Amino acid sequence: MSRIPLIAGNWKMFKTVDETVKYVKELRGLVKDIQGVEIVLAPPFTALHPAAEAARNSNVAVAAQDMFWEREGAFTGEISAHMIREAGAEFVIIGHSERRTLFGETNTTVNRKVLAAFAAGLVPIACIGETLDQRERGETFDVLDRQVQQGLDGVSAERIGQLVIAYEPVWAIGTGRTATSDQAQEAHAHIRSRLRQWFGPEAAEACHVIYGGSVKPDNIRDLIVQPDVDGALVGGASLDIRGFAEIVTKSRASAA
Ligand code: 13P
Repeated sequence: MSRIPLIAGNWKMFKTVDETVKYVKELRGLVKDIQGVEIVLAPPFTALHPAAEAARNSNVAVAAQDMFWEREGAFTGEISAHMIREAGAEFVIIGHSERRTLFGETNTTVNRKVLAAFAAGLVPIACIGETLDQRERGETFDVLDRQVQQGLDGVSAERIGQLVIAYEPVWAIGTGRTATSDQAQEAHAHIRSRLRQWFGPEAAEACHVIYGGSVKPDNIRDLIVQPDVDGALVGGASLDIRGFAEIVTKSRASAA
């Protein structure tokens, strides 16, 4: 498998500029010798540029947690992909379940954002995942299919190969209830089979499909060894620098 594990910390609405700069400076020291893992941090918008500056010339990259699809204009409160890129970020999280549930995002808005992110030179981390109700009704694969098909409509096969998809079962987010490694692998393999069907084998092989939902230092190993789990999107556990560094360390292909 040629996909390098990608570990991203989604800080959600946590950490000030000051806290961010301290964290990034310490983390870059802790992970400076780690190879074979892509490390990404997603601070709030206010800390994006300071984070990127503090991470300059290191193996830590920065992501925004959301974006708007227009380049500029009268859109009070919104931030464009172009602005995010210019602030020094390389990635952007799109369609997180909290944005879908609390802020009305849909597969259609996700699609517009994914296309605009690529156009601005950002790598989207597109989030998908079923709710507990949907899982219990046996709808998981149908939900994932719609999220992938509609969310990635019009994206070229070449760009699918650069994309990161985060499978985050909503019932596992912030609950301490992780999907089992078998449940994660099953969903990831399904997503990859759809990518193969809709975008071709090369795109499907290159696309990172990472897992999110109560990832911790003590469960990352079981998840990362699954053949279709290419990394993790870590929420709560990424706020603690030692815990996050441990998750990164344990994600290396060579880690025991
Ligand atoms: P937790 O790791 O806190 O469950 O959050 C997962 C998540 O939403 C990452 O985007």
